[in-house]
Amino acid sequence: MRLLLGVSGGIAAYKALELVRLATGAGHSVRVIETASAKRFVGSASFAALSGAPVLTSEFERDPLRGSFPGEPLPEHDPASHLALVAAADAFLVAPASANTIAKLAGGLADNLVTSAALAARCPVLVAPAMNTRMLEHPATQANLALLRERGITIIDPGVGRLATHGEHGAGRLAEPAELLAACEAALQTGPWSGRRVLVTAGGTHEPIDAVRYIANRSSGRMGFAIAQAAAARGAEVTVIAANVALPRDRHASYVDVTTAAELAAACDERAPQADVIVMCAAVADFRPAAPRSSKLAREGNAAITLELESTDDILARLARGRRPDQVLVGFAAEHGEGGLARARAKLERKQVDLIAYNDVAQEGIGFDAQDNALTLISANGEQQIPRAPKAQIARELLDAIERLRGESG
Ligand code: PMT
Repeated sequence: MRLLLGVSGGIAAYKALELVRLATGAGHSVRVIETASAKRFVGSASFAALSGAPVLTSEFERDPLRGSFPGEPLPEHDPASHLALVAAADAFLVAPASANTIAKLAGGLADNLVTSAALAARCPVLVAPAMNTRMLEHPATQANLALLRERGITIIDPGVGRLATHGEHGAGRLAEPAELLAACEAALQTGPWSGRRVLVTAGGTHEPIDAVRYIANRSSGRMGFAIAQAAAARGAEVTVIAANVALPRDRHASYVDVTTAAELAAACDERAPQADVIVMCAAVADFRPAAPRSSKLAREGNAAITLELESTDDILARLARGRRPDQVLVGFAAEHGEGGLARARAKLERKQVDLIAYNDVAQEGIGFDAQDNALTLISANGEQQIPRAPKAQIARELLDAIERLRGESG
């Protein structure tokens, strides 16, 4: 999970440090944004050390990580928007949330980075109040919290106990860090992707010529792995069929390694019937050597050789023929240059899939072995552009589009 943590002013800010430690220890990526008054309680250096990423306080500050989360590659583009971080987050937690910040959230104010992020968030938003009992019990604060709840924000109720003010005891203590983390994890398990079985193919196949040589393509597997990671972050049960991918793996997904198009086809045939959503992102060979040699072809005595290629099975088309009616099938189209969009549109028809994600791989900086991508999504309901962005963001937008498609088809 990419967790964006917004820290507002309050003595309980020290507990947010422990939350960052717990969350990163559990394998989540955390970025922290602070209000100016939060900095008076806990300085940015502590959050930066624990999260492994710079902390932002102002909307006018340039993010050295360009809106990405720890462990992700630095996007080539520097997003101008101060909202890039919240756009990339899977969950946004405001903890501690002061009475003042809660009032601003209820009023829709956007006068600092934390409140602006809350207003722009499309991911689940959670608010963990922490304040003096009298402030918490004030009708204004209670009305603000009720309004936030009504709008779908998860309020993590404060506990009862000793408060920061000397000798005071009552409600208003920030929930414990483990509870905050559990609430964020749970928020992602209740969405529409929760428990959905997603099958993603990634990488590029290798087709042997002889014992040591093969025909390959330039797919790195980044796009497919980003889709898998985004789906897992939303609570889906993800299986990735990875063709020759040497990238870090998401511990919330399971992986099946394959080498050739035939192996990828067999792995898909076995797992597709159980999948609710299938995304065929792998670059699968269309042709393979008809008679690969079992030993190494020798240079001696072979001034020139001719390789006979035979076509491989069209896996996507086969999956479409055998699909369950409730299954969503997404294909990619890697087209090169002029006429690509028309060819991609034709693939939607020919392959009988629900969605084709077309990338023009002739464009500089996107597609094969690049950090970024840009897609045109083509479905029977129309077309949608996803402009150039890091593959993690493209993946999230693709999942949003799949979700809309499921909604439209009933
Ligand atoms: O891995 P990266 O470096 O991140 O690069 C990402 C990508 C460029 C590989 C990815 O965005 C992409 O475009 N993947 C599809 C590549 C491809 O093979 O496209 P295609 O137009 O040749 O194939 C169309 C569709 O049919 C694809 O969904 C493909 O998986 C599928 N196919 C192709 C051949 C085959 N024999 N069987 C198939 O099912």
